Amino acid sequence: ASKKADASDENGMEAENDVITIGFSQVGAESDWRTAHSESIKKVFSEKNGYELIFDDARQKQENQVAAIFSFIQQEVDYIVLAPVTETGWDTVLQEAKDAGIPVIVVDRMVKVSDESLYTAWVGSDFKLEGRKACAWLDAYAKAKGMQEINIVDIQGTYGATPQIGRTQALTEAVEQYGWNLLAMESGEFTQAKGKEVMASMLEQYENINVVYCENDNQAFGAIEAIEDAGKTVGPDGDILVISFDATHGGIVNTMKGKIVLNVECNPLHGPRVEDIIKKLEEGKEVDKQIFTEERMYSHGADVPVITVDGTDYEITEVTQDIVD
Ligand code: AHR
Repeated sequence: ASKKADASDENGMEAENDVITIGFSQVGAESDWRTAHSESIKKVFSEKNGYELIFDDARQKQENQVAAIFSFIQQEVDYIVLAPVTETGWDTVLQEAKDAGIPVIVVDRMVKVSDESLYTAWVGSDFKLEGRKACAWLDAYAKAKGMQEINIVDIQGTYGATPQIGRTQALTEAVEQYGWNLLAMESGEFTQAKGKEVMASMLEQYENINVVYCENDNQAFGAIEAIEDAGKTVGPDGDILVISFDATHGGIVNTMKGKIVLNVECNPLHGPRVEDIIKKLEEGKEVDKQIFTEERMYSHGADVPVITVDGTDYEITEVTQDIVD
């Protein structure tokens, strides 16, 4: 339950306010998605909504996240919210939080812990499903367009992060299933600069790349720059098809232009979802251990309007100007 902060009004009357203190450990600021995620958390956990938010940016380093959590425990926050950079390595610090009686809500990426009671709830995306949707789309698109060969490269996210694990696994399984040629895989650490660097080096090594699977939008922006700098073209009528994840505003604009042919949504607006969990806990209610967000798919053109994964149909929205607006 929240701390009681006593305040006196101008008549010396005691007023009692419930202020809920939240320690939030954020991965970093590596992508546009991450910026939107931080903004969503800050907007909800504001002073005017009755919260005190202690925000810590870990600059993509797990050791900084661990230090932040120890500091939140010392400050006796009411809740710890953790967006973990990678899945493993959390047992010790989360055990400390549990021993201190502070509930931990994990958001976005997952944690892999030996004891599931070390965190109270998780909310985020089904990253492997995102990847499977992208691959099912590519298979259908290749057939619709009569593509003879898929010579694909994968610009992966941060190694050991749930979106990297899920999206990469989906691709490697699809490569087996559909007989695609997977030429290379390398991490672009979810950043534009590294995505560009990795793409440039892949282009030097392989002449025949015709699809790049970018595990987020910022890497896709970097990859597009590298492809164009190398004198090649992107798009349905170009040399290389770019597939991406996130569907940020910039990603959607590039999808409308055709520079990205398919963009699978990864929703960053978790602030209200985390607040919903905290409100329930404050009321002494049960919360779901895992909550998956529903996500859409956006394409340039309408060649593949629907795909099916595990018996479920997913519609693909063609990006037009009104969607960008
Ligand atoms: O964990 C979500 C991923 O992390 C998003 O796809 C990416 O853009 C971000 O950096």
